[in-house]
Amino acid sequence: MKKRITLYGWLAGVSILFILYALVKNFMIDPGAASFLSHKTGLKRQLNLPVWLNVMYVHVAFACIAMASGLINFSRRIFEHKRLFHRINGYVYIVSVLVVVLTSGYMAPYATGGKITSMGFNALNILWLIITIAALVHIKRKQIIRHRNWMIRSYAFCFTNLLIHLITSLFQGFGLVYATSYTIGVYGSIALLLIIPNIIIRSIGQSNGVYSFTS
Ligand code: HEM
Repeated sequence: MKKRITLYGWLAGVSILFILYALVKNFMIDPGAASFLSHKTGLKRQLNLPVWLNVMYVHVAFACIAMASGLINFSRRIFEHKRLFHRINGYVYIVSVLVVVLTSGYMAPYATGGKITSMGFNALNILWLIITIAALVHIKRKQIIRHRNWMIRSYAFCFTNLLIHLITSLFQGFGLVYATSYTIGVYGSIALLLIIPNIIIRSIGQSNGVYSFTS
């Protein structure tokens, strides 16, 4: 029991801290994304800054909504006692994922690191959509454990930005330039986002308590 609560506690702690960080950093500390944009050199396409920035704001806002709604829906208490809320909140999550993917689709061609990074982001977009739709299809078929597992896989993608920046910083620390580190960050994230949820799913097992790793 203790292990279960600890896992949700960790998830909630990391998610809430990251939501706060993303909001404060992108809407208060650096609303013009000056530090991030300073690494975009030699872009093949002309970047329309006001449009890009507004798309980025929508992207960040809905990414935070996806993170929050996903986190809430992993709560066993809500799943067991507030089924209608769980359903409505689930659709909030799906719509948020769609908005993040659409805005990501707009920003991807201008990605730091050029075409190879753009391709990575497009792969992330396609994977996240397919995985999230799989979670929806399973619950429509009343396959609850499978729904939970695909939602764990889907929710992992909410940590894309965090992982990209962690890996980027790591490789910058090894002396690589920002753009190259960022490209490695994107592909490294794809690998981790596909591997880590499956480790978590295995450790939870096929337990009867459907949302058994939550509080
Ligand atoms: C859900 C959590 C996410 C948050 C909080 C988030 C946040 C951000 C932020 C703040 C930026 C601006 C640049 C930066 O500081 O990194 C950004 C850029 C971007 N994000 Fe996200 N993002 C998230 C998830 C995703 C996902 C899942 C994808 C792809 C499926 C994605 C695709 C992109 C793209 C393509 C860019 C532009 C990158 C560039 O210009 O080089 N993001 N994101």
